[in-house]
Parts: sequence; structure tokens; C-alpha cells
Amino acid sequence: MLAFDGDTITRATITLGSVAPTIYEATVAQRSLVGRKLTPDTIGEASRLAAAAVSPIDDVRGTAAYRSEMVRVLVSRALKALAANNESAAYPHNPALLWGEAHGAGALRLDQQIEHTEGAPITTTINGESRTITTGQDKTLLRFLREDADLPGTKEGCAEGECGACTVFLDGAAVMACMVAAPRAHGAKIVTVEGLRDEGELHPIQTAFINQGAVQCGYCTPDS
Ligand code: FES
Repeated sequence: MLAFDGDTITRATITLGSVAPTIYEATVAQRSLVGRKLTPDTIGEASRLAAAAVSPIDDVRGTAAYRSEMVRVLVSRALKALAANNESAAYPHNPALLWGEAHGAGALRLDQQIEHTEGAPITTTINGESRTITTGQDKTLLRFLREDADLPGTKEGCAEGECGACTVFLDGAAVMACMVAAPRAHGAKIVTVEGLRDEGELHPIQTAFINQGAVQCGYCTPDS
């Protein structure tokens, strides 16, 4: 986020996630912008300073060097978008939200959904069938579906919102069930991979999974 007085930057906030033990505010990069104009030179300098300041991990998903380089690239892109005043151009027109009028759940508010304490029934519609379940209030929707609704088709991959293996439709929106609290199911309509079947006929995706020996996310499916 940048604030301007004319062309001059008066305040800069650059906040980075997943590249340090906690959310990181790139203060040196921020200071490099204040009092200056947003030009290719200042953008390049701030991007390099942001990349130099983070301490990402090295793991199977990416090297620390790659993650640092991505900080430089993404900060640069963000600042260039601000300079061109078109930062909203890349926003999705219909983002997948857990609630809101766009997904038919406008009447349901999160604070109403999380009042479920142990034993409080969760009444929900799963794959067209009305279910009332009195266990699993403290679980994720993923574990609730697998362990309490007895629908193991929804799989756990990463359990941290990265892989998509646990995707279900919740009130028409594709959500990662590992990131949703089970009580959010109360009053909702859920479709899992088991529910894609139409009038007894397997959905083409279900058929393809069987033919290819796939698991839900398909990430590791061999090309046979
Ligand atoms: S298990 Fe990977 S996103 Fe939910």
C-alpha cells in the first residue's frame, strides 16, 4: 500500500507472507520509497531490498533462493501495478468465498456458525441428503466429512490449504475443507466427490479417477 502527495510517496507498506517465521513487514524497502517517486529505479531498489530482508525456508516445495527471488518479482509487479494504477486488474471477478451473497450464503454469518459446542447438532445437506450430526463440532470440515459424515472420498493432502486435495463445494463455492471449521456446515449445502454422481451415473470425473487409478487431487496420477 502506498500513499502519495502528488507524485511523491508519503507512506509505504510492504507486507510479506510465507517467507519468514511470521508475517514480515519489509521496513527497509518501505523506507526506500518514502519521499521519492515511483519509477523503474525506485521499484527495482525496493524489490531488491524486500527480497534481501526475508529468510524463507528451503524445503521440498521450493528453495530459499527461489522464494527470495519470488519476493523480488512479486514486490516489483505489485509496485508496477500501483504505478500504472491498475492493481485491481488481476483480482478475480468471482472469487471463491466461504460466505456472501455471491454464493447464496448471505444470510449465514460466521459468528452464528461457530457457536456450536460439543454435542450441538450440525444440520446440513450433504450430496442432496439432509443430515443431522451431533459429533465433530471441534473438527475441520474435512475431518467432519470423513469421520463423522462417513464420506472418505474427500482426502487430506497438506492439511494447510495448499494442495486442494480436500476441495468440496460449500454453498456452491469450491472451498478447501481442511481450512473450514465443521460448524460452518450447519445450514449449508455441501457436495463432495461422492455427490458428483448424477442419477446413478458416474460423473466423468469419477470415471476418469477410476480408469486412471487417481486420488482426489490427481496431483500424482500416472499417465497410463
Ligand atoms: S488438504 Fe491440502 S488444501 Fe486441504
